[in-house]
Amino acid sequence: MRFVRLCCKKTTPFLGAWVVNRAMSAFLSVLRGQSAPHVPVWFMRQAGRYLPEYRALRAETTDFLSFCYDAPRAAEATLQPLRRFDLDAAIIFSDILVIPDALGQKVFFDVGHGPRLDPVTDFAALSFRPDHLAPVYAAIRQVRSALSPEKALIGFAGSPFTLMAYMIEGQGSKTFDRALHFIYTHPDDADFLRNLLEESIIQHLSAQIQAGADAVQLFDSWAGMVPAPLYKDWVILPHQRIVAALRSHHPHTPIVCFPRGSGVKLADFARAVQPDGISVDTSTPMGWALGNVPETITLQGNLDPALLCAGGRGLDDAVQSLKDICSGRRWIMNLGHGVVPATPPDHVKRVVDCLRKNY
Ligand code: CP3
Repeated sequence: MRFVRLCCKKTTPFLGAWVVNRAMSAFLSVLRGQSAPHVPVWFMRQAGRYLPEYRALRAETTDFLSFCYDAPRAAEATLQPLRRFDLDAAIIFSDILVIPDALGQKVFFDVGHGPRLDPVTDFAALSFRPDHLAPVYAAIRQVRSALSPEKALIGFAGSPFTLMAYMIEGQGSKTFDRALHFIYTHPDDADFLRNLLEESIIQHLSAQIQAGADAVQLFDSWAGMVPAPLYKDWVILPHQRIVAALRSHHPHTPIVCFPRGSGVKLADFARAVQPDGISVDTSTPMGWALGNVPETITLQGNLDPALLCAGGRGLDDAVQSLKDICSGRRWIMNLGHGVVPATPPDHVKRVVDCLRKNY
């Protein structure tokens, strides 16, 4: 395993301010509403099975969570996509389900079945143990010291609804009806769990920032399953409280939210939560987001992961069209959800080249 300073470009600066911008990372500049020398780009799930070097590294460890808690391997998986592609940010290699695991609910990954979680029998027995996540913070320290200053490092956590949904269902689901049934039939336990998750998420993200994460992203992957009457209590207010707490401790660390599947409710979310950035999902027209999210919030997204996988002329046209409609706006290129395992790495390279070389 090797740690090298990645992508330190030797360029001749002609303006002092420009040097400062490069050193600060285009990704962070755009999140802060400052100008940047190019459109920043990174991809959700940019480390993973579509990369042969990831599959080789992953094959050295059977259990997925043990792999996440192996700091040198997690650091290496984080850096792999930045060795191949001129991305503006790395995202720490971990998983949203490390929080239920650190709360004392056993989490395991069945090959071919995704995550499984033991049933919660006693909510009062759940208690967040940040020491359990020490390897995540160690991996962040290792990655930050291996990255050059113009590359940002993103920390992340799952959001309360999405984490609660996995904790109650015990696995993924197409409808999450057991999780919704729990909210309606056990309101006190549901409130207790939501508060506990908010506290744990704040602690986990703060610890990642202290370890060297330059920005953080909240993944509410299943926000689209929340019925409209519950959206305020389960999506907007928890994000508001988490963002407020993080800002009071880490006022200079940008926060990106990804309330996937929110649809038209994204406009209320943006106005109420006011994060530094919002990641727009594949089902939301970017033109609609541009008109309905305040201009003080950076937009991220929303290329279709299936189109990134398919490639060809359609991919080039979609990248060009996003560039066109987002020009003049605070915008970070990304997908509307994660890279799918069948994606040819060359397609990722083509998108990055297209943004850099302007073809
Ligand atoms: O590069 C990156 O983006 C960082 C790594 C990352 C992983 N998971 C690694 C991973 C991130 C940011 C996540 C977040 C995550 N995990 C989310 C939110 C984003 C989203 O996709 O909606 C969710 C819902 C999870 C939960 C999870 N983890 C599921 C449902 C699965 C199984 C599905 C699958 O892709 O296999 C995982 C496993 C997982 N997390 C893998 C990776 C690379 C695959 C497991 C493996 O490599 O063996």
